[in-house]
Amino acid sequence: MINFSTQLKRFPFLEAASEIAAELSFEIFIVGGFVRDLILKRDRKEIDFLVVGDGTEFAKKYAKQLGVKKVTVFKNFGTAHFQFGDYDLEFVGARKESYKKSSRKPEVVSGTFEDDIKRRDFTINTIAVFISKESFGTMIDLFGGYEDIKNKLIRTPIEPMITFDDDPLRIMRAYRFAAQLGFEVDESINEAAAKLKSRLSIVSQERITDEFLKILASPKPSVGLNLLYYAGVLEVILPELSNLAGVEQRNDYHHKDVFNHTCEVVDNISKITENVWLHFAALVHDIAKPQTKKFVEGTGWTFHGHEELGARMMKPLFKKLKLPMHKLEYVEKLVRLHLRPIALAGEEVTDSAIRRLIVSAGEDLEDLITLCRADITSKNPRKKSKYLENYERVMKKVWEVEEKDKLRAFQSPVRGEVIMKVCNLKPSKKVGEIKKAIEEAILDGKIGNNYEEAFQYLLEIKDEFLKKG
Ligand code: CTP
Repeated sequence: MINFSTQLKRFPFLEAASEIAAELSFEIFIVGGFVRDLILKRDRKEIDFLVVGDGTEFAKKYAKQLGVKKVTVFKNFGTAHFQFGDYDLEFVGARKESYKKSSRKPEVVSGTFEDDIKRRDFTINTIAVFISKESFGTMIDLFGGYEDIKNKLIRTPIEPMITFDDDPLRIMRAYRFAAQLGFEVDESINEAAAKLKSRLSIVSQERITDEFLKILASPKPSVGLNLLYYAGVLEVILPELSNLAGVEQRNDYHHKDVFNHTCEVVDNISKITENVWLHFAALVHDIAKPQTKKFVEGTGWTFHGHEELGARMMKPLFKKLKLPMHKLEYVEKLVRLHLRPIALAGEEVTDSAIRRLIVSAGEDLEDLITLCRADITSKNPRKKSKYLENYERVMKKVWEVEEKDKLRAFQSPVRGEVIMKVCNLKPSKKVGEIKKAIEEAILDGKIGNNYEEAFQYLLEIKDEFLKKG
């Protein structure tokens, strides 16, 4: 019999739970993600308690014993929650859950320990550990979850069609756990997911997006993305992405499968950074390729303008997915600029073209180059190193020009107030236009990036601007 009492010593506050359980003659267990992560040696701050008895009563007594004042009770769900130090403690009375077809909100009816455990999502989340004094730390594993963790397998405790029908969000959770933990998914899950994918419509977009972003933040997102694609779930939650799959052949020309390429780029980026928004930018960088695809006789496939159209698709996509709008500009920028650095790799590139890149990318230039490097998925080592060298050359030029100009936080060295004074203008659109003209002159290399030359230039152009009325 497996016993976790040694590992649980790290959580001395559990002893008080044993005492209260004895006092109330309740059976208490720790269940779910905490036990799973204990076995996987993953750190975790949320602990779920399963109480055979009144979960709320237990939570209140336990909180009092620990000196915690605030206990939040969700009457409708029969759950309670409080914070103790760094830990989030959740309490639920054992229940039989019967779900309504049209909503994810279960009707709660109390049940036995087994009723509760078998209505949970995956066997890896059904392992319970006794907290009661006489058997403290003993594992109860009704569905072989321990074996499944050891074999890295995601499986449902009962028929997956029932498990997913009860709560369709679990389709997303299956693939999220697969990506996050590097586990395999049992084939029966894929079959049920394919059949029930349209039931995701009763799940709120926020919950779906939350799981999707967890897949994207995982060490190898392609695991989850491919599972979603092959079960046909991607087509429901993000058709723009599943549309990237497929290759067309004409004459001797074929283009590479954009979905596979995208998966590779996202994986490449995930090896370098944990910034999930950079992962997201990688995911959508070629999103407009299907709409811009053209076959040109003698040239082959082209995708002109896919970067600009892709950038413009971001706002509606952010709205649909309910993504945080303050990340929109960053993603748009990376999509819009993802081809720019490579266009600047030639020997004869001017300083002004480099300056434009520096100013357009601003503080996200490093992220843009990271994306560009991840975008190289050629299997030919010679080509790959040639492309990488190109980016190094661009970055070298960037550093040289930056050194010359100190451009990162670029703004006209002659500010609005000075322009207003010299031209005798009130704050207006015209002031902005004059300032922009000065900035353009600097970017074009007509004048240097310093106050004296900019001021001189202002004197030269002011009459022309004021004449225009
Ligand atoms: N659960 C479930 N179905 C869901 C969500 C959760 O059956 N749709 C069960 C699982 O047993 C899960 C437990 O409730 O372990 C707690 O849920 P939650 O905290 O959301 O998930 P965890 O498994 O703890 O994992 P994570 O914190 O990574 O989401």
